[in-house]
Amino acid sequence: MTDDHTQVQEFFGARAAHWDSRFAGDGPRYEAAVAAMGLPPGGAVLDAGCGTGRALPYLRAAVGASGTVLGADLTQEMLDEAVRAGRDRHALLLRTDVARLPLGTGVLDGVFAAGLIAHLPEPEGNLRELARTVRPGGLLALFHPVGRAALAARQGRRITEDDLRAEPRLRPLLADAGWRLLSYVDEDSRFLALAAREEPHARP
Ligand SMILES: C[S@@+](CC[C@H](N)C(=O)[O-])C[C@H]1O[C@@H](n2cnc3c(N)ncnc32)[C@H](O)[C@@H]1O
Repeated sequence: MTDDHTQVQEFFGARAAHWDSRFAGDGPRYEAAVAAMGLPPGGAVLDAGCGTGRALPYLRAAVGASGTVLGADLTQEMLDEAVRAGRDRHALLLRTDVARLPLGTGVLDGVFAAGLIAHLPEPEGNLRELARTVRPGGLLALFHPVGRAALAARQGRRITEDDLRAEPRLRPLLADAGWRLLSYVDEDSRFLALAAREEPHARP
């Protein structure tokens, strides 16, 4: 474990028990974000940084009983809450770093990542690892149930253009990591960037 991991685990470990009650009511936003991915029935999807697994029931509904849903998170307390909420019925939960996934290349149809990107120590390399696990044409959804401005206001700060999730930064970051940005929405009620996995040889 790195210092970055320890910080993440301490931060979210301390918040795990109240995570769901604090953000109760977000369910329909998660459901809509998952629907926007258009995952194929029978497909395979990873919830990267799944936390307490709020997206897992919707991901399971999207791929159906014959599909595969994985939830990966670094913080044991968040995964414990996912189990307590019964969300391990919908997915196989893995305690692992999404930057070092125990998955083969091109095995997934998509990756859903809510509230994750700001916590990645090496965003380009870490997004490239997610790309490795997804088949060409598969999707990445970077989601947050509130937009950048609303989140910054909640945290008592302003958004700036060097924010990783600002479109002028995110688009080239994704491209360098093997993803093509397809759509970008940043409004008070949601942040959702959808990107497609490029063919591995598509960029020089
Ligand atoms: C803001 S929370 C979001 C949790 C959940 N996706 C949700 O929407 O409720 C971010 C989560 O990402 C996890 N995380 C951060 N960095 C990670 C990494 N490198 N690998 C796996 N999980 C990570 C944290 O432990 C935390 O549970």
